[in-house]
Amino acid sequence: MVGSRRLLIKNGVVVVYVVLSVLRWRSHRILRCFDRMASALASVALSAPFARGVPLPENPMVQRIGAGKIHDNRLFKGKAFRRVSMAVSVNVSRFDGVTMAPPDPILGVSEAFRADTSDLKLNLGVGAYRTEELQPYVLNVVEKAEKLMLERGENKEYLPIEGLAAFNKVTAELLFGADNPVIQEGRVATIQGLSGTGSLRLAAAFIQRYFSDAKALISSPTWGNHKNIFNDARVPWSEYRYYDPRTVGLDFDGMVADIKAAPDGSFVLLHGCAHNPTGIDPTPDQWEKIADVIQEKNHIPFFDVAYQGFASGSLDADAYSVRLFVRRGFELLVAQSYSKNLGLYAERIGAINVVCSSPDAGTRVKSQLKRLARPMYSNPPVHGARIVANVVGDPNLFNEWKQEMELMAGRIKNVRQRLYENLSQKDESGKDWSFVLKQIGMFSYTGLNKVQSEHMMDKWHIYMTKDGRISLAGLSLSKCEYLADAIIDSFHNLFTAALLVSKLVRPSKVNV
Ligand SMILES: Cc1ncc(COP(=O)(O)O)c(C=O)c1O
Repeated sequence: MVGSRRLLIKNGVVVVYVVLSVLRWRSHRILRCFDRMASALASVALSAPFARGVPLPENPMVQRIGAGKIHDNRLFKGKAFRRVSMAVSVNVSRFDGVTMAPPDPILGVSEAFRADTSDLKLNLGVGAYRTEELQPYVLNVVEKAEKLMLERGENKEYLPIEGLAAFNKVTAELLFGADNPVIQEGRVATIQGLSGTGSLRLAAAFIQRYFSDAKALISSPTWGNHKNIFNDARVPWSEYRYYDPRTVGLDFDGMVADIKAAPDGSFVLLHGCAHNPTGIDPTPDQWEKIADVIQEKNHIPFFDVAYQGFASGSLDADAYSVRLFVRRGFELLVAQSYSKNLGLYAERIGAINVVCSSPDAGTRVKSQLKRLARPMYSNPPVHGARIVANVVGDPNLFNEWKQEMELMAGRIKNVRQRLYENLSQKDESGKDWSFVLKQIGMFSYTGLNKVQSEHMMDKWHIYMTKDGRISLAGLSLSKCEYLADAIIDSFHNLFTAALLVSKLVRPSKVNV
């Protein structure tokens, strides 16, 4: 009896609340008065013990705001905040239609790593260089360049849309070689970008605007963000074969066949060096053949160079593929990043270069890249650009940088060698682990599948992306033996189960 009376009262409160809300929506004149009454009723309804668990109806005004019809709306003036906060108090949001985004694959790995309290834990997920003590590393040349900048008392004025002129000059020279005819003849349109990702995104927007019928071809597998970038820019893409799980090597025939089968005039995304995630690069001879088929099909090469100098330790050797295509007369695009080779991850410094057949085309392309950049971010940040310009533009700092890069690349090579030795010595099955040595750059693609990679994390506290990629830049010599034990255990003991599961579950394509 008492219960039904309470329910009656509560329903009464709710009905009055709805009526007031509707009236409030209709009439501006009595807005202030109803506002107070509706607020009071809402708080009565919420504070009453029987209100718990019985949702109040939605405020029609809030729905209207949610639908975006907010022009000429007094809600945003004067009483607006009270009205909005009341909506919050009854648990209704104008953002109700916004669904939860899936967690970022790589940040998810790092979060899980941070939450793990084991002393054994090892983060091989993130593609960032660590010292032998597994600490982040700021290059000496970067510190010197920053000191120079402070001494000069440089200002923080806006850069032009295309970025810092001194940076654009040295970045193109570093990539193509200062004496390259395309530089001498002024045929390269270079603009500073927000690191590798931002530069790729700008190029994708350019493709979407000027080649709306063209599609992009990306390797399978590739760096996970390539798909996001083309999706967001609304550039259709498809994959060409790249990785052969049987050999843990390059599926060269598959790659060439797929590039050949693509519609003429496609943009072929190629990793300039140190392919992410596989660490498998074509040989010089294979690059020539790839160039042949791209030429034959009238495709446009689009290089992503995120690891120049980091793959082999030599800036020139790592620019081999790009320079080959330029030598062969292609018009092409190249996105550059200084996140890895100068350790400027957080400075967001990179560039997009478009090699054109004439200086006039270069000028026009550059003007359109600037036009795309202006509404996106207006102009790029200056700090990282000055660091690069100072390091590359100063012969002493440049030489020092090359030595530091050799040290970083050398440490990764040592770790790679040690891991291979541990795997070969400890694995009694006789499995051939030499693919670890053949891969190049920061990463090794272990061949472990999703289930095996999860086992690495669950049992061994080793965090890696679920496609089996490990970052050797996050590994020290002293941890190689432990890692080898974990890989051998995961590979052999989960082999049958993993095979079964991989038939049921789509393979994970997660990496950064
Ligand atoms: C292949 C590839 N391209 C581009 C990037 C872009 O990196 P950032 O935006 O930090 O320069 C990365 C980073 O991991 C990468 O691996």
